[in-house]
Amino acid sequence: QSWNNRNLSSIPVDLDIRIRRLDLSNNFIRQLHKLELPCLEQLDLSNNQLDLISEGLFENLVRLEQLNLSRNELNNNLAEHYLRNKSALDQLKMTGNALTRLSHKLFTESKSLRAIAIDDNLISEIEEGTFESLIQLEVLNLAKNNLAHICDFKLRQVKFLNLSRNSVEFFVTHEDSRLYRLEVLDLSHNKLLYFPIVPKTNRLRYLYLQNNMIGSYSEAALVSETNSLYSEITLSLLLSLETLNLSYNCLQSIIWDVRNDSDSGPLRQLFFRSLKHLDLQSNRLVYISPPFLSALAQIERLNLQDNSVQPCTSADHLGRTLKHLNLKGNGIKMLQPNTFQGTSLVSLSLAKNPSLVMQEGALEGVQTTLQSLIISEINLTSSRLLSLPCMPALTHLNVSNNLLDTIPRSLSCSPLREIDIRHNVFITLNPSLIRALSTNLTVMHISGNPFNCCDNRWLMVLNETEITVKSNPGTGSHGVSSAATTLPHLEACGRLSGQHDMQAFFKPHQHCFDFKL
Ligand SMILES: *[C@@H]1O[C@H](CO)[C@@H](O)[C@H](O)[C@H]1NC(C)=O
Ligand SMILES: *[C@@H]1O[C@H](CO)[C@@H](O)[C@H](O)[C@H]1NC(C)=O
Ligand SMILES: *[C@@H]1O[C@H](CO)[C@@H](O)[C@H](O)[C@H]1NC(C)=O
Ligand SMILES: *[C@@H]1O[C@H](CO)[C@@H](O)[C@H](O)[C@H]1NC(C)=O
Ligand SMILES: *[C@@H]1O[C@H](CO)[C@@H](O)[C@H](O)[C@H]1NC(C)=O
Ligand SMILES: *[C@@H]1O[C@H](CO)[C@@H](O)[C@H](O)[C@H]1NC(C)=O
Repeated sequence: QSWNNRNLSSIPVDLDIRIRRLDLSNNFIRQLHKLELPCLEQLDLSNNQLDLISEGLFENLVRLEQLNLSRNELNNNLAEHYLRNKSALDQLKMTGNALTRLSHKLFTESKSLRAIAIDDNLISEIEEGTFESLIQLEVLNLAKNNLAHICDFKLRQVKFLNLSRNSVEFFVTHEDSRLYRLEVLDLSHNKLLYFPIVPKTNRLRYLYLQNNMIGSYSEAALVSETNSLYSEITLSLLLSLETLNLSYNCLQSIIWDVRNDSDSGPLRQLFFRSLKHLDLQSNRLVYISPPFLSALAQIERLNLQDNSVQPCTSADHLGRTLKHLNLKGNGIKMLQPNTFQGTSLVSLSLAKNPSLVMQEGALEGVQTTLQSLIISEINLTSSRLLSLPCMPALTHLNVSNNLLDTIPRSLSCSPLREIDIRHNVFITLNPSLIRALSTNLTVMHISGNPFNCCDNRWLMVLNETEITVKSNPGTGSHGVSSAATTLPHLEACGRLSGQHDMQAFFKPHQHCFDFKL
């Protein structure tokens, strides 16, 4: 039965005692009377004003499987009273209440719990034994609380653990070699100073560590910090890890020791044999050791945006599996020939490296696989762009915010679908090139160029094609229109405002003025 959103201030009387589901969410219920619903399996009391649930109120709900108490004002830490004798309870939600402490007695009579969400509370203490005995527990959400240390993690049964947005400085797993079932661990938005000590034998696939302070504690490399802190702990084998997010930390260099499983020796290291997606955006990286990179045998996406790395001359160490590489904003000075050779890059961003010199042959080896190339904000001039090779797979090109006045002919090699030439110094575009590109081109971003309307043959060609011109200088998500309806956009800009007779505009030399799109 659904009674949600009915302005109720108490539970309706005379409920059919046979009901199995009762939804009382989004009301103003503050007090409950004892519920006599022996068949009830699902109870939703979320979004009410419950501040106290007295002992015995839920006593007769012996079949209850799902209980939702989210978004109330429960703060009395007497939760164990309403979880009495709930041996069938499978899911408990208490998101958005005011619990401060979890006691070991809390779940002693609800041992079948499989999923618990107590996120967005004020929990700063969890007594030992609170979750350990819940052997069915798979999903535990404790995000947005006040937890500061995870000193002895031993929940081997849990598959998904969310500790995001607490104040966690350390995460250390109990020293044991038994298998932990953990697959997803979210420790993002905390105050971690070190790489967490995750279970030695694990099935971790997703590890979220973004927005922490890893690497800030000393200038030394991460692994030596960790080694010295936990000298007795053998670091974990992260053999199943697919996604590692370390963005927005303080890493300056990565020199994790790498060796094959079979090698022996005193070194401790982290293995990332299955890693597909490594996000290192916005650290302070100046150095990543080549052996570390070449040991990433499955890597597909590598995000190094907003660091200070300079690519080496040869890409032997970049995995063959690498598809997406983001090097935006690294202050890169020089790209040598063959920098990416050996990879099969599909997308590459070199944006915002204003002093970048791309030597001829810099894209050698990837010119046949690249589908997306971003070379915006690199002070590129047309003569330098001429060295771009023929790229027969390229569908997306961003050359915005440069100093270009011509599009090189070599681009007619590419089946371009979208091109962004905003904020350059184009006075005109080559009409025959536009015609050649129009076979595939669907979107063109052109605003922010000092086009001269006396040379408008390109506009007429554009007008005949299906190309959508985005002339909005902003994000590009507005001002979408087909070429036929583009022209009113032109008049909205620059010195053309007020000009309604667009036909006249097309008659060369009749109304001749510069305009900016
Ligand atoms: C309350 O939780 C149950 C499952 O535990 C869920 O089915 C229900 O949608 C939740 N209610 C709201 C309003 O989110
Ligand atoms: C718990 O529930 C069972 C089964 O309904 C019942 O027999 C028993 O008396 C209850 N125990 C308590 C302490 O309420
Ligand atoms: C963990 O919780 C945070 C805060 O609610 C949420 O933003 C994040 O998506 C969750 N993490 C995962 C892996 O679901
Ligand atoms: C990593 O975290 C950042 C910051 O929260 C986010 O923008 C990015 O999408 C995440 N990347 C992955 C692969 O999870
Ligand atoms: C980029 O070009 C502009 C204009 O020519 C120049 O002022 C600026 O110094 C250049 N920036 C770099 C980093 O070379
Ligand atoms: C091209 O790069 C600029 C940054 O220089 C960005 O603002 C713009 O959104 C990109 N264009 C497209 C179509 O994504």
